[in-house]
Amino acid sequence: MTSKNSVIQIYLFLINLIFYNEAKSYHAVVIIHGVLTGSESMELISNRIKEMHPGTPVYNTIRFAGWSSLKPMWKQVEEIGMDVLSIGVAFPEGINLIGYSQGGLLARAILQRFPMHNVRNFISLSSPQAGQYGTRFLRLIFPDLACETAYELFYSRLGQYTSVGNYWNDPHHQEFYYKYSKFLPYVNNEINGFNNSDYKIGLTKLKRIILIGGPNDGVITPWESSHFGYYDNNNTVIDMRDRDIYKFDRIGLKTLDKQGKLKTITVPGISHTEWHTNISIVDQFLLPYLD
Ligand SMILES: *[C@@H]1O[C@H](CO)[C@@H](O)[C@H](O)[C@H]1NC(C)=O
Ligand SMILES: *[C@@H]1O[C@H](CO)[C@@H](O)[C@H](O)[C@H]1NC(C)=O
Ligand SMILES: *[C@@H]1O[C@H](CO)[C@@H](O)[C@H](O)[C@H]1NC(C)=O
Repeated sequence: MTSKNSVIQIYLFLINLIFYNEAKSYHAVVIIHGVLTGSESMELISNRIKEMHPGTPVYNTIRFAGWSSLKPMWKQVEEIGMDVLSIGVAFPEGINLIGYSQGGLLARAILQRFPMHNVRNFISLSSPQAGQYGTRFLRLIFPDLACETAYELFYSRLGQYTSVGNYWNDPHHQEFYYKYSKFLPYVNNEINGFNNSDYKIGLTKLKRIILIGGPNDGVITPWESSHFGYYDNNNTVIDMRDRDIYKFDRIGLKTLDKQGKLKTITVPGISHTEWHTNISIVDQFLLPYLD
């Protein structure tokens, strides 16, 4: 009796091994590049995912490459968002989303704008989630731009036609930020009398949100913006958990955090152009969250 049972068990084990355990299958991944670059800049990440997680379908967006990456954020959110939804329909079991730099802020806004998405894990790789107050990455376009006066350009109707103007967050001119910015204060649900509950639903349904950044980034300013931290009006960086966006749970960060679904990762020694070009970043901090 016992030996017959164990024979059956071994048989079942083998059947299981042969037919059901061939290879772990991974969810499809969508990748969104940063400002002034295109899909080619994200190829190392894309190739490494396919190499280490064989069979993963990876969609590296070619939209808004180069100069067109400066188009208004909402326009990019609408178009790339449609792709994210279509890919989601093709993979009803869910997809994973990675955004680098500006692409991570676009990705977050897509999740909020389209709460019907089926994204499981969202990885934000050194993205200005709480805004940007530093001109280093802009010198190419505006060589004479100074932080202190950039608000005059960005907080105008014209300035809002650029993606950067949409998330320029000048801690010393907050009244203009709230008045002129058409993007970040809205997507953060931080405009008086504006509270879009979809924006919260879109994030709280995630399985996980991973926020990656580091003190040697050099471009994202303050670097803590990659973790939703930001300057107060006295140039002191306030941690995400001490900011209103978290305390009032405006977009669901607190909900996610309390459920153990929000993870911040700090990696020292990595400059802004290394996050997507250093294979060990992919191996250590991206692959473990791509199921
Ligand atoms: C936003 O609206 C939701 C539900 O409509 C409410 O629960 C929440 O308290 C509101 N948040 C703020 C900051 O007003
Ligand atoms: C501004 O920051 C400085 C240095 O961190 C501090 O001494 C000062 O009290 C702060 N002022 C206000 C108004 O918070
Ligand atoms: C890549 O990143 C790792 C940290 O994950 C760091 O130790 C290493 O020095 C970096 N490599 C290069 C070539 O910068």
